Amino acid sequence: MVCLGNICRSPLAEGIMQEKINQKKLSWEVDSSGTGAYHSGELPDPRSIKVAKSHNIDITNQRARQFQSQDLDNFDLILTMDASNYQNVKRLATSKEQEEKIHLIMNFASPGMNQIVPDPYYGNDGFENVYEMLDEACECIVEQFS
Ligand code: 4NP
Repeated sequence: MVCLGNICRSPLAEGIMQEKINQKKLSWEVDSSGTGAYHSGELPDPRSIKVAKSHNIDITNQRARQFQSQDLDNFDLILTMDASNYQNVKRLATSKEQEEKIHLIMNFASPGMNQIVPDPYYGNDGFENVYEMLDEACECIVEQFS
């Protein structure tokens, strides 16, 4: 799960997917990162922690880290939140195999629509919407691959 800061959107995506993995007892591993390093080592944003908690998901075990080229080998799917994250990750790909792993996460809920998960950092009311969008996408991903 990849966003810009790895404090708002992708920590929610990781937490939501981890919850589905636990519920369905899947042998999947999920992690998250940001294309930027500004918040490395930090907890998720308090607003993401709060909205996750309101859905009974605890994301306070997470710490922000920057996306690494190695992630393109270590993971089967690289799920990005918006066009900027998508392009920044795609730029690091060195093979067709790596490139094909990279997707906009919402394309699993609405194929081909290239819908983005809006960055909620500079507002206060976007977090529940982000949660709902990511929950829908994660549900579709679990249905497709499990
Ligand atoms: P995120 O949100 O990419 O969903 O974690 C942001 C967090 C921090 C910043 C931008 C977006 N920032 O500019 O510091």
